[in-house]
Amino acid sequence: MNKLYLASKAPRLSVLKFGSSVLHSTADYARIAHEIYRHVRTGEKVVAVVSALDGETDNLFALGEDVGHHADGVGIARLVRCGELKSAALLGLALERAGVPTAVLDPHEMDLRAEGDPLDANLTGLDRAKVLARFEQADVIVAPGFFGDTEVGPVTLGRGGTDLTAVMFAHWLDADRARLIKDVDGVYTDDPAKSPDALRFDQLDYQEAREVSRGLVQDKAILAAEDLGVVIEVAALGRSYETRIAKVERAPAQTREVQRLRIAVLGHGAVGAGVCDYLEAHPNRFDLNPVLVRDPSKHGANHAERAFTATPEEALAHQPDIVVELMGGTGFARCLCQSALRDGSDLVTANKAVIALDLARLDSLAHEHKRHLRYSAAVGGGTPILELLDTLTPRETVRSVEGVMNGTCNYILDALDGGALFADAVAQAQALGFAEADPSTDLDGDDAADKLAIIAHHAFGQIPDLRDIPRESLSALPPERIEAAREADLVIKQIGRCSLGPDGKVEARVELRALPRMHAFASLRNEANGFLIECSDRTRYLKGKGAGRWPTAESVFADIMDIQRARAGNAPARQDLADDPMRLKQDLAS
Ligand code: HSE
Repeated sequence: MNKLYLASKAPRLSVLKFGSSVLHSTADYARIAHEIYRHVRTGEKVVAVVSALDGETDNLFALGEDVGHHADGVGIARLVRCGELKSAALLGLALERAGVPTAVLDPHEMDLRAEGDPLDANLTGLDRAKVLARFEQADVIVAPGFFGDTEVGPVTLGRGGTDLTAVMFAHWLDADRARLIKDVDGVYTDDPAKSPDALRFDQLDYQEAREVSRGLVQDKAILAAEDLGVVIEVAALGRSYETRIAKVERAPAQTREVQRLRIAVLGHGAVGAGVCDYLEAHPNRFDLNPVLVRDPSKHGANHAERAFTATPEEALAHQPDIVVELMGGTGFARCLCQSALRDGSDLVTANKAVIALDLARLDSLAHEHKRHLRYSAAVGGGTPILELLDTLTPRETVRSVEGVMNGTCNYILDALDGGALFADAVAQAQALGFAEADPSTDLDGDDAADKLAIIAHHAFGQIPDLRDIPRESLSALPPERIEAAREADLVIKQIGRCSLGPDGKVEARVELRALPRMHAFASLRNEANGFLIECSDRTRYLKGKGAGRWPTAESVFADIMDIQRARAGNAPARQDLADDPMRLKQDLAS
């Protein structure tokens, strides 16, 4: 029998540290969530170690001095660690909004122990099993940096101590990387803000790093990393290159500028509005054309700062680098997707109907015009099922994929299971922005069939004819069947399944199935999606938020950022991060 591996058993683990230099305001938590999601969608598990918001620790020290008047270190440490506790909780909320399965852990919940001077202590131990166990349910664990627990209470690790927390976690968890995310993209010969001629390093050994980093990385953290053989990466948000601090010869870096991109967004519904928010939050990276909508006056009322147009020529003016199609439908949207690639733009779309119909043609257009085509959000919302399939299929033989892949149907079935009325549940799913413009697309299984066709392409290299995918409609589900399921302690779910038939052709269907409550899909609540991928020797499980503004916008935005990195020559458009950890491991071994 196959062993069921939860996605938590993924082989790669990253420790990412976010310091105060990237935490100027609460808006930065969304940026950090993008960075974390970038790793998660390549199949990595992430421990995110976080500092306090910029200035907060200073404020807490001042507050402690004000109230305590030369209080001893123990009392001050108890106060100043609150900045990190608050920051970890906020990052947890930002990740929840983005639909990334996350657990936030305080030091006492993972037995993170320390000893020494209460304001300059060292970490001495962590309950590794307790931390790793949380990856059964979560892709990300958020931990506050800068302090640990002792018999007599919390102690802090000195200024910059979150670097030390990250290094120690990477060591104890045998992580593939300890990446310290700063407001500069690596270690320079001099402060690049003050000396424009300063050179960045690709890699440095520990001692040199201590000499030139001048506090950019905490000294104690570099010493600990050297002692424990942990490779440190120093990087900026959104970049796929870094300065690596390891037992290596120093090497200067090639300059790799991120190119500012012009983006045309087509459509401003639940997802389009979220993507525009994300793009506008990165004014140094993106210029936004007026957004294509049917009626600009309707959207302008809530978004006075944003330009709208009903004219495609205006939305597509100035040869956009990326066209982001979020209109839905297979009429005009389909034409615009094709013409975007033909006219020399990269294309990002969440339009599963267009992809399911036209993938072969769009792929060949992208190839012919040497453009990027990305559609991660078309399946799974923020759940990176296509990315996972892509990392599996070169190495493993997939036998079948089945899943709950329509958030609206799951939301409705979950509500019906709880005793809600059908019409109320549909209205609620619409109000929450999960349903398609015409919710019958969800209810009749058409949306799931489109997604299944795309999944089949990534699992088996074949895209089935949509007419060959039978589907059972939720609208035709008699209330007695729900009642009978409940009495038998079963739960009804809409499941899409595809596998290879004996003739080597893909067989796919969308059906309503009554499942025992122990089944992995039975516990999927609200708009959740979940997938079981059966490979020759094991079955993988993946779940996440399958619909809604923020998880879907997260996925679209990740595609845009990937393309930007690929255009800058910093990474291939896919799996850019997946290969890095191996490189690190090899270096460590050599
Ligand atoms: N209507 C879709 C759903 C949106 O409910 O799953 C996400 O593709």
